[in-house]
Amino acid sequence: MFLCILINIIKFSQTSILNHFNFAGLNLHENNMECKVVNHPHPLLQSLGQICLKASNVWRNPVNLRIPGPIPVPDDILKEMSGPMINHRGTEYKELLVNATDRLKRIFETQGDVWILTASGTGAMEAAIVNTLSPGDKVVNATIGVFGNRFTDIAAIYGAEVITLSFPFGEVIDLGTLRDTLNNDPEIKAVLVTHNETSTGVTNDLQAVAELVKGEFDKLLIVDGISSVASLPLSTDAWGCDVVATASQKGWMVPPGLAFISMSERAWEAHAEATMPRFYFDAAMYKRYYEIGQPPYTPSVSTMFALDLALDKLLSEGMGSVFERHASIGQFTRDGAKSLGLSIFPKDESTASNTVTAISIPEEVDGAKLLGMMRTEHNVVMSGGQASLSGQIFRIGHMGMTTTEDIQEVIDALKIVLPQVGFNGAG
Ligand SMILES: Cc1ncc(COP(=O)(O)O)c(C=O)c1O
Repeated sequence: MFLCILINIIKFSQTSILNHFNFAGLNLHENNMECKVVNHPHPLLQSLGQICLKASNVWRNPVNLRIPGPIPVPDDILKEMSGPMINHRGTEYKELLVNATDRLKRIFETQGDVWILTASGTGAMEAAIVNTLSPGDKVVNATIGVFGNRFTDIAAIYGAEVITLSFPFGEVIDLGTLRDTLNNDPEIKAVLVTHNETSTGVTNDLQAVAELVKGEFDKLLIVDGISSVASLPLSTDAWGCDVVATASQKGWMVPPGLAFISMSERAWEAHAEATMPRFYFDAAMYKRYYEIGQPPYTPSVSTMFALDLALDKLLSEGMGSVFERHASIGQFTRDGAKSLGLSIFPKDESTASNTVTAISIPEEVDGAKLLGMMRTEHNVVMSGGQASLSGQIFRIGHMGMTTTEDIQEVIDALKIVLPQVGFNGAG
């Protein structure tokens, strides 16, 4: 009862403050409200506006969502999704599709093709496999975690002969082992690799892997860039990546629902020979339809609206700045965790991911309790470990527009919760 009254008071005061500002010439319901508030000539209105803005943000998004995707989507991008549907076979959609594809290519740094799929990241991984391989093809999957392992599952289910090189969780691909494997078997056709392993918070040196795979052996290189493209540097063409897969709910700052894959000329040559069954993800269909400015199947129109604005935001900021932002928030997160006496899970900190930080759960701490208390008492939602890492690590996502305040809030909450779940501070 008391809670109900309190909620209504907050709701009422929010509405009346917002209305007041509308009256004062500050349309706080607009996307650019922050800008209008900051620019308002009257200092009192400026500060009241900022308080009001904060209150309305807290109201709308009370959770500090720090999982490594889906990530918090900026309000203006979310709002784009509320537009009316359009004909996906009409001129308006054609413009949307072509403009989005051109900008995706800039971010992928490719002159090759990029296809927009209505799928999650796993769909793009599957598309990468079925468009380039045939049953019986020998492929090496160099995996460093749970998502890397998924590549083996997908390729194997479609009949590829997969040589899985499993490196310990928390470590990167050992180039010497990969080189030996490729040397030992000239029949290997392709190498599968995860750029940023979200399950362990480790980033492979993809450029070095590519130099080996392409430069020394000239094999097809298929990359899971799901939690890296648009957040970490990845030069598709310059590094020689034949297929790169990624998904909208990561650094793209878009809700889940879209996945993107690039295809090099070499990937198209492989496509011409590849006989794995494919229908929904057949790149030939995407190509044929793209030529008439259409998607082959009904797209997620609302998510495309969101993507359109997100791409503008990324490119107007400049990808160099986006990458720097991620590097700096990654470092800030690691420093914050270490300041509490916690240890970063990646064996070598220089390989730690700038999109997600994996932290070892101290032996004396109950990880489930830690995550539960962070969520219920501090509104911070983090991820635990997956598969064999369950109970061993927790993860803090920092893709997209993550601020130091967002992370500081996590660190401050951890400082309170850790002793409550038995942490003795030994680190
Ligand atoms: C590196 C990586 N690969 C694959 C996936 C699977 O993507 P999805 O859950 O969108 O299918 C994820 C998702 O977290 C990921 O981070």
